[in-house]
Order: sequence, then C-alpha cells, then structure tokens
Amino acid sequence: MEVVILDEAQEIAKKGATLVAELVAKKPHSVLGLATGGTPVQLYKHLIALYQQGQISFNQVQSFNLDEYLGIASSNPLSYRHFMNSCFFEHIDVKLENTHLPDCSPANPREEGPRYEQQIKAAGGIDLQILGIGSNGHIGFNEPSSSLASRTRIKTLAQSTIEDNSKLLKPGEFQPHLAITMGIGTILEARRILLLALGEHKAEAVQAAIEGPVTAMCPASALQLHPHVTVVSDAAAASQLELADYYRWVYRENEELKKEYGNFYELDIYG
Ligand code: F6R
Repeated sequence: MEVVILDEAQEIAKKGATLVAELVAKKPHSVLGLATGGTPVQLYKHLIALYQQGQISFNQVQSFNLDEYLGIASSNPLSYRHFMNSCFFEHIDVKLENTHLPDCSPANPREEGPRYEQQIKAAGGIDLQILGIGSNGHIGFNEPSSSLASRTRIKTLAQSTIEDNSKLLKPGEFQPHLAITMGIGTILEARRILLLALGEHKAEAVQAAIEGPVTAMCPASALQLHPHVTVVSDAAAASQLELADYYRWVYRENEELKKEYGNFYELDIYG
C-alpha cells in the first residue's frame, strides 16, 4: 500500500485530483468510482477548477458511485444523487446519463445490487475507485462484520454511521437506515484505489485499515489484499500509524526518484 501523509487538506485534494486528471488524460473513456461525504468535496472542487481551466474533460467518462440511501426519492436533497449532481456533475462536462448510482427507490430492491454490478461490468470495470473511510472502518456502507467477498446489496447502517451522518441533517429530518452499497468484493475489483482520510476521528480506523489484521471488523483492512492502493491522509488521520515516519520517508524518496527517472514504478494498468 502506498501511504501518503500530507499536512494540508488542500494538498490532499490536489494530489487526488492529479491522479484522476492523469488517468483521464491517458484514458478519456475512464470509468471512475466515486464517493460522497465530506472527504472528497475538495477533490471535486479541484477537478471542477481543472475542467474550467480546460485541463480536463469528462465527456467520455463514466462514473459509478459507491452507494445510495434506500427508500427516498432521488430528488430528495438527502440522496447521494442530489449530492453528486450539485457538488460535481453539474459543474463539469460529464454526460449525466453516464453517471450511475444505485437506484434509491427500485421496484425490487433485491434486484438492484445484481443490476448495478452488471452495469459496472458492461462499462468495462472501474479504473479508479475513490474512497473515504468511516470512523468505524467502513468503506462504502460496508459496516464492520460485512463479508470481505460481499457484492452490491442492501445494508443496514451501523448506529455510529447514522450518528456521524446525522451531523449533516437539520434537526428532526428523516434519516434513512438502509442503503445499497457496492460490496467489498466489488470495490476490490477496481484497477486502482485511492482512499482519502481527513481528521483525528479517522485515526483509529486508518491505523486498523493499513496496519491491522485483515478482518471484517475493519472493512477497509480488506484493501491490504489489493495490489494498487494509495492512501492519502492528513497528519491527524495518520496520527496513530506506527510506521508513519517510514511512509513519509518512502514518499520523499519516491518524489526524488520521480524527478530523476519519471514515474517508473507506476504500473501501466489503464491500457
Ligand atoms: C460515501 C461512503 C462512505 C464515506 C465515509 C466517510 O459514499 O461510501 O463510506 O466515504 O462514511 O464519510 P465522510 O467523508 O463524510 O467522513
């Protein structure tokens, strides 16, 4: 796992945006896996700025979001469709029909997971999956105890997740307890994964994910099984990492090597 610890949230967003921009420049018809929540907002802002400066176009890109609440209308401001449209899609040249989220009010919720999986497959699979991490170690809405082989399906949110997410709601506002989420097995099929972590409340989960055992108790720890994961964290979220000094040193060394030899250790996996 490549672990990058940066001081400023802005630097983290920029690093993430650069990865996306490099991928889309190389493969204009890339398939991006996207996340909602507070963590990727600055990354989306950076990408919007790059688009406005004419440095990136999303007009051949397809996207698949990790998850969506179940049992609300997509027009509901709480829905992740609403979040993605207003935070990102409406400000770039992506074709809205190429942006996908699980349906939040499907006729048959049990069929929605397999349908979504089929759509991802038909698009050629995900080139780069962007992830946040829950304070309980979840990725997508794969809460602790989720099968590490799980596929897109309905999940009941953990109480701690409901509490974390309730901070974004007005008092008394309805909050769904069910979601449809890509499974851990689905996420692990992405060709490359970028996990972003911000803030001290993520420190325990980040440590468990990177340095702990691979266990369903910390769903993000399954990322240790993936050959091409980059974790970009601020110092607060990295504060419990035992090998933080080593990760910083490796990063500095690699930056030097890149100046001399270019990005030779970057796998050419996007073809
Ligand atoms: C969002 C998602 C979640 C969030 C996680 C962190 O689509 O799948 O796993 O990434 O809950 O949320 P924030 O970024 O709000 O701390």
